[in-house]
Amino acid sequence: MTNHMRLQKLVCLTGFMGSGKSTAARMLSTQIGWPYIDLDKRITEAAGLTIPEIFARTGEAEFRRIESVQLARIVAESSETQRGRIVSLGGGTISQPQNLALLRDYGAVLIWLHCPVEPLLQRCAQITDRPLFRDEESFRRLYEERLPAYELADYRVDSNTEPSRVVEQILALGIFPKVTA
Ligand code: S3P
Repeated sequence: MTNHMRLQKLVCLTGFMGSGKSTAARMLSTQIGWPYIDLDKRITEAAGLTIPEIFARTGEAEFRRIESVQLARIVAESSETQRGRIVSLGGGTISQPQNLALLRDYGAVLIWLHCPVEPLLQRCAQITDRPLFRDEESFRRLYEERLPAYELADYRVDSNTEPSRVVEQILALGIFPKVTA
């Protein structure tokens, strides 16, 4: 295995709320046979609370603390096993500089699922489990604030489309070992 391959063992999907990170990660995992880890799920398991409960009871700062701890665990596990993994990050994970630094230092690959704000608004308006979706104005503001962090990703794919098309674009990046049937 070349160094290049070794560096591509942790593939992380980033992007704003509603961009389809979890769905794409799950589908990718099935197609290429790598385990899939959902950071939000790790956070809720660690806290024993739902994400809205964490925000309501302890606030966003505590949520961010748990998020960083769990991300560090995922990186440590990946380092120990040297197995490929696909991770769906939370929409705010890489906006925290220490999280981005951790992923960069480890050599994780970051893929941004890019989507314009209008379809994201439509998708998220129907789902009630996102504490940072308060109203349209703050959603738009947060989207703009987050863009510079997403732009630091290694790759960008268009997620304003069906999940299967998102997965096709990711597979076409050529970062996964060839799957042999
Ligand atoms: C957040 C996005 C959520 C979740 C939490 C905070 C954010 O994840 O981590 O509600 O800061 O944008 P999704 O992007 O999977 O919705």
